[in-house]
Amino acid sequence: MFSVDDCKIIEVPVVHTEAGNISVLENQENIPFDVKRIYYLYDVPMGSERGGHAHYELQQYVIAASGSFTFVLDDGCRKKEIFLNHPNKALHIVPGIWREMKDFSSGSVCVVLASLKYSESDYIRDYKSFIKYKNEKSRKY
Ligand code: TYD
Repeated sequence: MFSVDDCKIIEVPVVHTEAGNISVLENQENIPFDVKRIYYLYDVPMGSERGGHAHYELQQYVIAASGSFTFVLDDGCRKKEIFLNHPNKALHIVPGIWREMKDFSSGSVCVVLASLKYSESDYIRDYKSFIKYKNEKSRKY
């Protein structure tokens, strides 16, 4: 069963050119899943908090394409705060992790590469249900 320690920061390879940088991620090369969906958060009002859910199966790579924000990860036992502020860093979020997002800087863009298409049935949106799910899962191992 996954813990917050399985959520790691990955260095995205960078190609430096005379007129700027190009960061590249490729399925199965430096992403351990096939990307099925890309979405991005932007125009997030200052002071807003987002998230407040977990996923049963979904894996994600989260990138601060512009600006900065903080992810608060929670595996039911421990919490970890991760500040993202550079496009050459990706946060890998494994399944079964509750996440909240906060401290979006003005103009920030949060790009997410996702292992599955959107499906509401993959969400756990109630914290008590999340804890119950994690406890049931840990009893199986
Ligand atoms: P949600 O994942 O809860 O947003 P966040 O974690 O950023 O706070 O999604 C917010 C709304 O957007 C929700 O009604 C579902 C919808 N949505 C889609 O329709 N497709 C998607 O790919 C995503 C990520 C969200």
